[in-house]
Amino acid sequence: MKIVSAEFVTSVASLAQLPSRRRPEIAVAGRSNVGKSSLINSLLGRRSLARVSSVPGRTQLLNFFLVNGEFYLVDLPGYGYARVPDSIRRTWGPLIEGYLAAGRDLRMVLLLIDARQGVTDKDLQMKRYLHDLSLDCLPILTKIDKLPRTARPARVRDVAGSFRLPDPGGVVPFSAKSHEGREGLLAAIGAQLEGARARPVPR
Ligand code: GTP
Ligand code: MG
Repeated sequence: MKIVSAEFVTSVASLAQLPSRRRPEIAVAGRSNVGKSSLINSLLGRRSLARVSSVPGRTQLLNFFLVNGEFYLVDLPGYGYARVPDSIRRTWGPLIEGYLAAGRDLRMVLLLIDARQGVTDKDLQMKRYLHDLSLDCLPILTKIDKLPRTARPARVRDVAGSFRLPDPGGVVPFSAKSHEGREGLLAAIGAQLEGARARPVPR
């Protein structure tokens, strides 16, 4: 898939504000600071369309980006950051969960895992939640540039094991710094958008 255009559309703080204009959606989920916004910028070939921060918990809203006029990439708030005040955490949990469960045309959730930390309990919780909603989930190992090459195969196998994938090739190593993994990820997103569209419309 080629990125022809990308624009920020809206930030959403409550479920009532979700865009009504129907487009397929691809959501980006993961712990605070795992690199969600950086991955979106890398994918879209834009330096700072999505806001990146060294302060974890920066993205506190659902941010919608319209890509190629065709689908939304949705940047979700990060979960699992201890220093976020309870008051804020109480609003995002339901916001993220409510969005995922809203029955939108959500084709796939990219579930980002920090390559240096591996899969955490919170990631497994999210994976189970997605599974219960029958949502497709693609594990992405972010900041792969920070992991020594020799440590990579074992980490990829670990993640594949946690996600019960038969093949470690189902895990995408990614770096927003070197853009490693970008082409493969764009192809996976393109296939997901195409594949679902090719299915007959249920009556
Ligand atoms: P929240 O919105 O707070 O949940 O964070 P996020 O998941 O959107 O992470 P963000 O993209 O803001 O990145 C967090 C930090 O990690 C920033 O300092 C980024 O520069 C850095 N970072 C993100 N991706 C990579 C990567 O692939 N390689 C390296 N080396 N650093 C990265
Ligand atoms: Mg962010």
